[in-house]
Amino acid sequence: MSSKTASGQPLHTGIGVIDSQHQTFFTILNKIRKKTLEGDSSDLSSFIEEIHLYTLYHFESEEIMMQKAGVPNLEEHKKIHQDFVEKVEELKLKCIVEDEDLVQDMTDTLESWFVNHILNIDKRDLEYVKNNS
Ligand SMILES: [Fe+2]
Ligand SMILES: [Fe+2]
Repeated sequence: MSSKTASGQPLHTGIGVIDSQHQTFFTILNKIRKKTLEGDSSDLSSFIEEIHLYTLYHFESEEIMMQKAGVPNLEEHKKIHQDFVEKVEELKLKCIVEDEDLVQDMTDTLESWFVNHILNIDKRDLEYVKNNS
């Protein structure tokens, strides 16, 4: 995943720090995907731990920025973030059983969720941040 979705929709939000965090998220996810495709489960749990911590860091960055700007839908946005964190935690549990197919399915699910979240929720609320900061 780069700066556009497979169907060509741009993923950039116009806020550089957030765009680079989104890109880092995809980079970590791709490392996990590559490992599972290669059938290599060594270090898989450390990459999944990395994506878990990075997700928490990114969501907190976004929420602080949105709080400062007074984004009206922030509680809804935070609830959606929390649901995603639970998905990542589910991935961590799946990793413990070391089923590479399951981990692969989960990384696909996380990626499509993250892309949809950027397109539909982040872009909406970051537009508000740009206009009110
Ligand atoms: Fe985001
Ligand atoms: Fe978000």
